[in-house]
Amino acid sequence: MRERLEALKAEALEELAQVTNQQQLNEMRIKYLGKKGPITEVLRGMGALSAEERPVIGQVANDVRAAIEAVIESKQAEYEKAETEMRLRAETIDVTLPGRPAAAGAAHPISKVIQQIEDIFIGMGYTVAEGPEVEQDYYNFEALNLPKNHPARDMQDSFYITDEILMRTHTSPVQVRTMEKKRGQVPVKIICPGRVYRRDDDDATHSHMFTQIEGLVIDRNIRMSDLKGTLLQFVQELFGKQTQIRMRPSFFPFTEPSAEVDVTCAMCGGKGCRVCKQTGWLEILGSGMVHPRVLEMAGYDPEEYSGFAFGLGVERIAMLKYDIEDIRHFYTNDLRFLKQFAHL
Ligand code: PHE
Repeated sequence: MRERLEALKAEALEELAQVTNQQQLNEMRIKYLGKKGPITEVLRGMGALSAEERPVIGQVANDVRAAIEAVIESKQAEYEKAETEMRLRAETIDVTLPGRPAAAGAAHPISKVIQQIEDIFIGMGYTVAEGPEVEQDYYNFEALNLPKNHPARDMQDSFYITDEILMRTHTSPVQVRTMEKKRGQVPVKIICPGRVYRRDDDDATHSHMFTQIEGLVIDRNIRMSDLKGTLLQFVQELFGKQTQIRMRPSFFPFTEPSAEVDVTCAMCGGKGCRVCKQTGWLEILGSGMVHPRVLEMAGYDPEEYSGFAFGLGVERIAMLKYDIEDIRHFYTNDLRFLKQFAHL
């Protein structure tokens, strides 16, 4: 029996020396140390031995088993180490590679210009008011002194949803809604930014959807000089200290008198250039003293209160400020265009 065990040991060690991978090693482990392996078989036959022989052979069997086990374990450790090394090598991070820049988004240039304009007016004590883009005919037209069939409604071709509901054509309805909410209290001092919709054919300077900011001030003794001073302050903060304004008589049904406001061209400083079509001036907004009928309809006594209002197109301001030649750039969302304004 001793010889058999020694032979087994020699055979196993020789076979183990041929082993080259984990799978073969597993097979060896089962073959020599498993329950159906030759050592177990020898041990099972020990019942036939004499009492003196039994511990001696048992010892030999254990030694053989331990020797085989030792070789298997050392091979196992070798394979595990190699495997760990391989994994570490595969997972190496090259810390010298340049980083990938995170693609951060940025606010749309129109949003940024709205913010700039809001900041200027907030600095003058205004608050920001908003209203619905789908509006009632009453707020969009009637309460602004534009009764049904008034010819001036043609100034703003509209998208109607029903006879009484339309996409607002300007942000002036927010004036009316704000005055209604204030129930005759003063001062009213708001600006209203938002999208407006008109039936226009889109081209480089027209869009059926664009952005307006409306301003409204109501109090006692509000005069045209307050309007002029406010607008001058505004344009100088927006376009620079050197900017001047001029007011030209105009017509809006909701203001009387009304004025269109021009600024000196920021591109040429008023000398005349391509942008201002050689005039030195650029029209940027409509304005006027709130019409007594509008005050009255919203619950303000025109004998006691007066106010001014103005409305401007944000796209036009942005185009002038950043020399953008086509309004459609704002809506086509070409990243090459938008990225130029990410830093504003
Ligand atoms: N709501 C006018 C427009 O869209 C602009 C405006 C506002 C004019 C306030 C005067 C006063 O054309």
